[in-house]
This record gives sequence, structure tokens and C-alpha cells, in this order.
Amino acid sequence: MDNRPIGVFDSGLGGLTCVPHVLAQMPQEKIIYFGDTARTPYGSKAESTVKNFARQITGFLVDQGVKMIIIACNTVSSICRDELQERFPDIPVVGIIEPAAEKVAHSCSSENRVGVIGTKVTIGSGIYKEMIREKRDDIEVFEMATPAFVPLIEEGFTRSDIMDLTIQYYLDDFILENRIDTLVLGCTHYPLIRDSITRLYPNLRIINPSEEIVSSVSDIIGEKEMMSEEGGENIFYASDLSENFVNMIETICSETQSKMEFKNLELDL
Ligand code: DGL
Repeated sequence: MDNRPIGVFDSGLGGLTCVPHVLAQMPQEKIIYFGDTARTPYGSKAESTVKNFARQITGFLVDQGVKMIIIACNTVSSICRDELQERFPDIPVVGIIEPAAEKVAHSCSSENRVGVIGTKVTIGSGIYKEMIREKRDDIEVFEMATPAFVPLIEEGFTRSDIMDLTIQYYLDDFILENRIDTLVLGCTHYPLIRDSITRLYPNLRIINPSEEIVSSVSDIIGEKEMMSEEGGENIFYASDLSENFVNMIETICSETQSKMEFKNLELDL
């Protein structure tokens, strides 16, 4: 038994797409979330900058007494999950990419053609293709950076004509030319536009890493006997606590019926 909270972080509100899945499967757990809204987006920044932000936020969450870190951000997971685990060896640090690659490997056949979309940093790292091909070298994987999605989502344009045009701008040729039938949403912001993607490409099968990470988290909690028995309030920190951010949390987490507290925390490097 371990009643400490689970630390979850992302560059902004994308990581919130993991939270309902975690709480649905493990309702007795409580979460401390950090969204770095003042410094989002991460995915178009230098790797060294993103690593500095990730070390700082992980350090903050560890200081809050978390029992585990969920990196609810593909960008951070793609370049520094191992480094964060080495730097904070006393608690498990779970990245989002490995469970998603596992899902592709188990659920696709050599007939499938898999597309991965993500930020420039994630796609530049080539990690999705590498991890999927390590497990299944018979699956074709195509990757593409789609950097305009995150700023639009952070601005609240999840359901809009601008978003539809942006989705089509990126995906029309990518899907057609590569004959993609399975799309991995390789950025935790993208599940927020999943409905629009599905409406525009109804035959596309979607793999959502924000859902897939939950089984890894619950496996670790089970193996290490770290289950919480008391539940409690979930705390959401943002480095720039806007009304949009609070509204998004309330919308995304509405079904979890958990108590929520919101806090602003400015970070200086
Ligand atoms: N949601 C993050 C990801 O999964 C980061 C997006 C960004 O800040 O560019 O990659």
C-alpha cells in the first residue's frame, strides 16, 4: 500500500487526456498534474530546452512526494525518459511511447500501414518507428510532424473550420500517398481532435497512447504493491493558470467525479 499521489506532467493541457483513463482504471489513486502552459509548446523547441523543463518539473513533483511519474508528453518521453529515470532513481518514471509501440506491435499485422503524427521533436527522434520496428520489423511505419495542432488546441480551436482545414492540410496526402490505415496520435494533445480526425477519415483506425499508458501504470502499481487505499483530491498546477486551462480540466475530467484543486505556479529556470 502506498497512499502517495502520482505525478503527471505535460507542456500544457495535452497530458490531461491521460488523466481520466488513469482515474477510471485506478479510482483510488490521486494525481498531482503539472501543465507547463507558460512555456508550451515544447515540440518545436531545442531538445536541450525541453530537457531542462522536464528535469525541473520532475524535480518539483518529486518534492511534492509523488510515488511515480507519468510523462504524459510524447515530446519529453521521446528524448529524455531514460535520463529522468536515472536522475530520479527512487520512483518509477513511465514514458508514453513504449506502451503505444507495444499496442501497435500486438494489434497490427504486416498488412497494416501505420502512420505516426507528433511534434517536430518526437518525429525528429524517430523513436516510434524504432520501437515499433524493434518489436515487429514487418510493419510499415510512416512518421510526420504536425506542429500546428498544439497551438490551435491550446487556444481552444478543437472543433472549428480552422482545425478541419489544418487536419486536411496535414493528413490528406500523408494518408493517401502512404496508404495509411492506422494512425497513432503521437502527441497527448491530439486525442482532443480525435473526433474531427475520425469524422474526416472514417475508415482510419486510431491508436491513442494516452489510453495505452494506463496498463503500464497499473502493472507497475500492482507489481510494486503501490496501490493507494484512500483516494483524495487531485491537484492541477499550471505555470500560467488560464480560464481555458481550468475549463478544459473540468471538461476532460468531468466523468471522474473527483475533487479538484487548481494552482498557479510560475517556474524560473
Ligand atoms: N503534448 C505533448 C506531446 O505529447 C507536447 C506538445 C507540445 O508542447 O508541443 O508531445
